[in-house]
Amino acid sequence: MHGEVTISGAKNAVLPILAATLLTPEPCVIRRVPNLSDVKFMGQILTWLGAQVRVEGDTIRVQARKIKGAGDYDLIRRMRGSICVMGPLLGRLKKATVSLPGGCVIGARPINLHLKGFRELGARVTIEGGYVHASAKRLIGSAIFLGGRAGSTVLGTANVMMAAALAEGMSVIESAACEPEVVDLANFLNAMGAKITGAGSPTITITGVKELHGAEHEVIPDRIEAATYAIAAAATNGEITLRGARADHMHAVLDKLTDSGARIERSGGAITVRRNGRLKPVDITTLPYAGFPTDAQAQMMALMALTPGISIITERIFESRFMHVSELARLGADIEIEGPSAIVKGGKQLSGAPVMASDLRASAALVIAGLAARGTTHVNRVYHIDRGYENIDGKLRQLGARIERVEEA
Ligand code: EPU
Repeated sequence: MHGEVTISGAKNAVLPILAATLLTPEPCVIRRVPNLSDVKFMGQILTWLGAQVRVEGDTIRVQARKIKGAGDYDLIRRMRGSICVMGPLLGRLKKATVSLPGGCVIGARPINLHLKGFRELGARVTIEGGYVHASAKRLIGSAIFLGGRAGSTVLGTANVMMAAALAEGMSVIESAACEPEVVDLANFLNAMGAKITGAGSPTITITGVKELHGAEHEVIPDRIEAATYAIAAAATNGEITLRGARADHMHAVLDKLTDSGARIERSGGAITVRRNGRLKPVDITTLPYAGFPTDAQAQMMALMALTPGISIITERIFESRFMHVSELARLGADIEIEGPSAIVKGGKQLSGAPVMASDLRASAALVIAGLAARGTTHVNRVYHIDRGYENIDGKLRQLGARIERVEEA
């Protein structure tokens, strides 16, 4: 594949940022919003909670003049990311009721650390009838340790930061998630009048304020979407320029791609990725930021399946994020799972087959493998991919891929 692709706004930044608009009755304007089904969902949740939501192209205007403290059970349960409305509801109304998000195919996905954070701010938290209830007379700033068994928690950090923004006094989150999406949220909260320092480091300090006001914000580009197209360039022996991508958010992925035989050039606001001779196997371990992102693990596995030699891919964030392995095998890939690791014996010629998408990033991996395979691959259940990739078929076609969206009969 050859050409240029413009990177959209980051899904995992825009979801908590949209939730943060609940913290103020004043209007907020969010720009560079990707057109994704997860974003539409979040818009529906905000509307259900009482906010006015207006979408104009890639701009969303939200005004949450009066809101209620309880989310619709099924709406919240449909998307795990919606748990991040809980912090803003608790911060502004001092009460929040949302359905307990279940596990999902990538792993158990508990919210114990979110709830621990709310409790440390003085909230009473109970679980009843499938709902989590949190309430407090006053939220009081506190020292909160958010480290868990797999490192910190991205949405947990977002949730606690949003509730603490309207607490009394100072809160210090230790072992905070350092992901760029957390920094983007902190920047938006500060634009709303919050007093947050240290976002992007493991220690975030939040000095509570009485109220927040409306603000405008442009969402950061999606580093995982960019990583996916970068990996697709290497997989198809192509050259792709990623317009608007932030190389400073992508060090781990670009470093591994370089080791695997890609050449990376940065110029102005773009990154160009091209294959540089033969592919080489690399070992990967997913880690919290700035380590290799779990959200690019499946795509990298597709690349390693095409690469002659053995590579070991170890998943340290979500225990069962290997659903793509059996589907890649349908295309002819030779991959064995050994505990948290996948051993990829790469270099087999892949050939097209009908495959089933199990989650968002697994679908992206199947698309990459399908593009590099001989023959035609049918990826079913593409609604998974529309959760997190804006217009993926259009963008890939523009790069020369032969891909079409087929409506199921
Ligand atoms: N964890 C706990 N307790 C908690 C919360 C998390 O033990 O209370 C554990 C999880 O089980 C996991 C680890 O901590 O082992 C990290 O989970 P984290 O909370 O950071 O994940 P998240 O915030 O729910 C976000 C992204 C995911 C991304 C992860 C990790 C959003 C909407 N989702 O989830 O994105 O994989 O961070 O970077 O921001 C995706 O985009 O495909 C996706 C799944």
